Amino acid sequence: MNIAEITAKVDNVIKDFCNNETAEFGCILGSGLGEVADSLENRRTLSYAEIPYLKPSTIKGHAGKICFGKINNKNIVCFQGRPHWYEGVKAESFVALIAVVKAFGANSVVITNAAGGINPNYKVGDVVMITDHINMQFKNPLIGVTPPPFIGMDQVYDISYQQRIKKIAEQNKINLHTGVYCGVQGPSFETPAEIKAYKSLGADVVAMSMIPEVIVARYFNFKVLALSVISNPAAGLCEQQLSHEVTLSGVKKGRENLNTILLDLFKQPALFSSANFNAVV
Ligand code: HPA
Repeated sequence: MNIAEITAKVDNVIKDFCNNETAEFGCILGSGLGEVADSLENRRTLSYAEIPYLKPSTIKGHAGKICFGKINNKNIVCFQGRPHWYEGVKAESFVALIAVVKAFGANSVVITNAAGGINPNYKVGDVVMITDHINMQFKNPLIGVTPPPFIGMDQVYDISYQQRIKKIAEQNKINLHTGVYCGVQGPSFETPAEIKAYKSLGADVVAMSMIPEVIVARYFNFKVLALSVISNPAAGLCEQQLSHEVTLSGVKKGRENLNTILLDLFKQPALFSSANFNAVV
């Protein structure tokens, strides 16, 4: 995979689209969580189909649109939906998605998703700020990049943004949890035995996305913030048979709190990240 070629092609499309305007934050909105993009003023949209290498979404709840506009007078680029390994996409799709954020000149990315709750203290609709992850997808979007980018993953989720979010949650009286995200490939849900195993490994939530974008974002030395909304108790802890409909209905309960957090976050300037030392461009 040639990352420089992907970023150059994506850059061309975005430069045409944004008329030299830049964005402060990229924000990837997960299943049923696309609403924040509706708060953008002077909103302009671009379909994923127009971005080289970015495969259009095939999933209900994922509009597959890039939305660019202002929140609190700050330019934000939002993604309604994202690619997943289970759609059969290649690593290029994840690189292209993050390359869009980079093309807008942002180097802070906020990643949201619906997740199953493993931690017994979590209820459907709760918001969990991710502090670390376990990659049970056993895939890495940087495989095949030469020379191999041996990037450090010991502090993936930015501490300063985590502090900001804790304060925002406190001010808005939102019960915010912190936890470890376990990423699985899907598309089938887990078995109860798998959930027990992930719990014993230290996982608090489980979902089928996010890890590839996070790895690519760290490759570009972005600051990463990740928030999950609990859409269901994980397999074996849930009274219902799990399905996409169950997760879409559960996530609605947390949507408002997530939106409040994001809109407050976008009132403050993005944190500066040092030069993209990993970038091959
Ligand atoms: N498992 C995996 N992915 C998910 C879940 C789950 O329980 N809920 C939402 N996404």
